[in-house]
Amino acid sequence: MIQWELEKAHISTPLPSRLWGICPGRHYIDEEPQKKIVPTPVQFKALSRTTCNPEKSYVIIGGLGGFGLELCQWLVERGATHVVLTSRSGLKTGYQKLCVHRWKKENINIIVSKLNATKMDDAKALLKMAAEFKPVAAIFNLALVLRDAFMENQTVENFKEVCASKVISTLNLDAASRELCPELDWFVCFSSISCGRGNAGQSNYGYANSVMERICEERSKEGLPGLAIQWGAIGDVGVIEDTVGSDVVVGGTIPQRINSCLTVMDKFLQQNQPVVSSIVPYQQSETIGQKTSKPVLFNIGEIFGIEDISAINPEISLGELGMDSLIAVEVKQSLERDLDLVLTIPELRQLKVKDLKKLEGARKETNTTITPESKTKPTSDSTSESNAKAAEKIHGHFSSLSSKELIAAETIIQMNSLKTGIPLFIVHPIEGTVAMLNSLAQLINLPVYGIQCTPEAPSETIEQLAAWYWKHINTVNISNSIFLAGYSFGGSVAFEMCLQAERDPQHHAKVRNLIMLDGSPSLMSAYIRVHKKHFQNSSIVEKEAEALCSYVLQFVDINTLEFKKELMSLPSLADRVKISVERISATYKNLHSENLTLAFDLYYKKVLMSFKYIPKEKLKKEVTLIKASDSLEMTKNISETYDLEKVCDGKIILYTAEGTHTTFIQGKRAKDLLNFLSNIFSD
Ligand SMILES: NC(=O)c1ccc[n+]([C@@H]2O[C@H](COP(=O)([O-])OP(=O)(O)OC[C@H]3O[C@@H](n4cnc5c(N)ncnc54)[C@H](OP(=O)(O)O)[C@@H]3O)[C@@H](O)[C@H]2O)c1
Repeated sequence: MIQWELEKAHISTPLPSRLWGICPGRHYIDEEPQKKIVPTPVQFKALSRTTCNPEKSYVIIGGLGGFGLELCQWLVERGATHVVLTSRSGLKTGYQKLCVHRWKKENINIIVSKLNATKMDDAKALLKMAAEFKPVAAIFNLALVLRDAFMENQTVENFKEVCASKVISTLNLDAASRELCPELDWFVCFSSISCGRGNAGQSNYGYANSVMERICEERSKEGLPGLAIQWGAIGDVGVIEDTVGSDVVVGGTIPQRINSCLTVMDKFLQQNQPVVSSIVPYQQSETIGQKTSKPVLFNIGEIFGIEDISAINPEISLGELGMDSLIAVEVKQSLERDLDLVLTIPELRQLKVKDLKKLEGARKETNTTITPESKTKPTSDSTSESNAKAAEKIHGHFSSLSSKELIAAETIIQMNSLKTGIPLFIVHPIEGTVAMLNSLAQLINLPVYGIQCTPEAPSETIEQLAAWYWKHINTVNISNSIFLAGYSFGGSVAFEMCLQAERDPQHHAKVRNLIMLDGSPSLMSAYIRVHKKHFQNSSIVEKEAEALCSYVLQFVDINTLEFKKELMSLPSLADRVKISVERISATYKNLHSENLTLAFDLYYKKVLMSFKYIPKEKLKKEVTLIKASDSLEMTKNISETYDLEKVCDGKIILYTAEGTHTTFIQGKRAKDLLNFLSNIFSD
């Protein structure tokens, strides 16, 4: 900017006000000469905003994935008019088609290409094709293939497949772009925090991301554009959202909302570091909320808009007070936050004002110093006891098992005497045995085999467990084709078994139909969401205490809050297990304490395994879900088909059988269930 200094001596004519803003009409400028002064730069803070050049083209590898579609929309909003999206399988979902349709309607030149950048010829053809429209401005590599497994189960093929999508494609694009994209502004690779921080079972994924980052660093050193972004978990879209949902803690991070990711990326694109990361660290207080010091009654009163709730009839229930579903959510959160009390909505409706008073009393007691006496003294407050109990109890089958049945001795057992027909294999529930499925097995007109979890079975991951069960099925060597079912927890294992069979059909029997008996991978995620506070984010001692409470509740009624406190005050897990086993043995004298102890160990390992399980790919085949009409409360947090649509590409057939999660497979109910199964077997 050029500035002029006007000297009084040369001023003679009035300046137009637009030029002499401050004192219009007061000064006069004579003719030349005027003196030129040296400008001084003025620095000011500005918000940078990335824009795209409509005269250039933008390439997104893996552009039809969750993040890819959002990125494309963002580029379009920033001015891009020529975008090439790649995917090996092309447009599949309705949502992908809708996005492309909308962009085309806005006159955006969108090309969907199946050219696979993991092949050098395809990478070149892709960039040539993009450059034919307009010079290439940006290449984003978002390709992702996951094949998670611990090292002992990792295969060369899986390692190569994961690396191809990230490493080989990036190497090819790097080489090809040097030749074909002279006007490149951005070369961006999407990496992950699991590369920087590591993630169990993801050695291949971590390695592949790491190589991409090194390529970007090399490019940057050479003065070429190169940027790798390590993302933490991403919310709203993408692989985590599709599998476990956004309400999850992964590697110490909580999912970052996609809008926030794009805002951050805006900044990343305008700086020079080749490797950057963006995560939202998990902070307990953020998701759980701080306990308030206000009385429970006061808080609940506020939610209902009642000034003094303690003054009203103590026999009135919250349902009678007009608790609708929105109020119920607030009440639920308030009780969970302040009292660590998890109640279902129907239970909340029945809660009376007098119960709230009692709960308030119990809270005050808990907050006072704990004396050795108060630590062990059982409460006489039956209301709070039953509420606490109802909070975490999932009725299971443990208490109906004999001491011998608590620990499965054999992995595969034949459950009926039939020898001919396509065999049905049923994977055990969390109890590890199939004893509770005996009456059902007797009704089925095919050979039925139970798959059970013995103490020797792998206990780290569902993937390992599934592979172990396949190994055992193969040793039985009965048929090349089987029906596979999983009950409750067993649903997740059966699902993973089916995935493994699809991945490697040569080494597995053909699964004719996968039957989920009131189970799905998402049912366990829903359980995590409901119990996240208790399991995911608590200390190990607390996790163990919580698991023990759930275990003991399967046998006997306890006041969970008090029992948990008692367990947490003990010095070791062995002590905690001992006390828990004693509690059970006091009622179930026939159950041996060694068996109860071992059964808890196996139970806890299964709980932890299912918490970690995320199916790594979608199942292609048809799945049949048979739900219990009165299933677990947590199923209300997931879709009608237990979110199976998120992990299955094939058809999902849904039946609803009468009964609860525990009873629908037993006795008379088993006969109703048989009708559905017969339909499946006769197809
Ligand atoms: N989502 C997260 O939480 C998260 C966290 C950290 C990092 N990231 C990174 O962000 C990127 C996008 O993740 P996302 O969640 O959007 O994954 P996504 O939904 O699974 O999308 C990835 C896409 O990559 C495609 N793909 C795989 N190999 C390909 C190849 N050779 N050529 C072209 N496309 C290929 C897949 O489609 P086809 O099967 O049809 O080819 C898939 O649609 C990934 O690189 C991932 O590592 C994601």
